[in-house]
Amino acid sequence: MSRLQADHLYKVFGRRPDDAVRRLEAGAGRDELRGEGTTAAVIDASFSVEPGQIFVVMGLSGSGKSTLLRMLNGLLEPTSGHVLFDGQDLTALSPRALREIRSNKISMVFQHFALFPHRSVLENAAYGLEVQGVARAEREKRATEALELAGLTGWENSWPDELSGGMQQRVGLARALATDADLLLMDESFSALDPLIRRDMQDQLLELQSRLKKTIVFITHDLNEAMRLGDKIAVMRDGKIVQTGSAEDILVTPANDYVASFTQDVDRSRVLTAGAVMADPDSALGTEADDGKVIRTAQDVLDAAPATVSADTPIIELFTPCSTSGVGVAVTDAEGDLIGVVPRARLLAVLGEPMTPGADATPEADAPPEPGATPVPAQTRKEVTAGA
Ligand SMILES: Nc1ncnc2c1ncn2[C@@H]1O[C@H](COP(=O)(O)OP(=O)(O)OP(=O)(O)O)[C@@H](O)[C@H]1O
Ligand SMILES: [Mg+2]
Repeated sequence: MSRLQADHLYKVFGRRPDDAVRRLEAGAGRDELRGEGTTAAVIDASFSVEPGQIFVVMGLSGSGKSTLLRMLNGLLEPTSGHVLFDGQDLTALSPRALREIRSNKISMVFQHFALFPHRSVLENAAYGLEVQGVARAEREKRATEALELAGLTGWENSWPDELSGGMQQRVGLARALATDADLLLMDESFSALDPLIRRDMQDQLLELQSRLKKTIVFITHDLNEAMRLGDKIAVMRDGKIVQTGSAEDILVTPANDYVASFTQDVDRSRVLTAGAVMADPDSALGTEADDGKVIRTAQDVLDAAPATVSADTPIIELFTPCSTSGVGVAVTDAEGDLIGVVPRARLLAVLGEPMTPGADATPEADAPPEPGATPVPAQTRKEVTAGA
């Protein structure tokens, strides 16, 4: 069973929301409704998040990310559709049962995070536990551990205004980690951080996740961040999810030109893996090894290859071996059996490959981004380069 499931979620703000949903279902667009003073913030969002997964929702400002996230923890009631948490329909729960789940099972790190100014960093980090009714000694112990995870050891007794913005954001993360919730909802949690600290936080989150195996929904407007963190990524545009897939899916087969335009600046060599770009092992048969011997068997490929890697190796690690040999790098499975080869030509081709939108792209979703809607804001782009 999925930990979290969104089933045809709609959120409409403004006049006659139910009416608006019916019209959206019939194909009306966001712009049409806006003229009438109605905002379709989220339109027909469906996806599922498996236990232990990091699910990233990515989109430009105003695309509906925060609204979607607020529906996932029951802070906002969907205009239509359902949210299932461990199979339980949040939309059908009593306010009390919902509060109970929200304070014990789900933790949220808000986009605009506010600490209590007159409480110490430790007390701020322990706040979620206080709400849960955890005794002081226990909550201070857990908050201290969470602060350590967030890199804030030594700051426990400081006041929030003695911390930088980035450090305050990390107190927010510590607060979420301290509660031990299964589901972490993180809204642009790292966006306010300096590039280096941001990258560090991403690493810490991945490291924490490999140990704690939480289920995380992470919101960002930064594709590089999405690709680093996401097991699965949903790309939102104007309230709709236009594509859901792995980083590789999105990079290799963007659903439409809009998604493709986002991926232009991504460092493909760090996202694509040997497994995603490898050619069939048979393609190496009949070619010549560097010593002129003709390659006839899988063993010949393994013997001649300049390196052997696993399928999840980022292709950036294949350039050096490929530069020394005409034979492709060998890709093997856990048993050491040959499952593919990556020849130099293939490596160069995938880096330079023009983006071809997927065949199932709808004409409407296919439209290029309107002028002025730069896929990745210049500021962010700079930040990513500096942080990468
Ligand atoms: N409470 C509200 N009342 C009316 N409109 C709202 C409300 N909350 C959000 N909206 C509108 O819904 C749309 C989506 O907003 P949302 O905050 O979900 O976007 P976002 O993707 O999180 O953007 P950002 O990246 O800037 O945080 C926007 O047009 C916004 O103005
Ligand atoms: Mg937001």
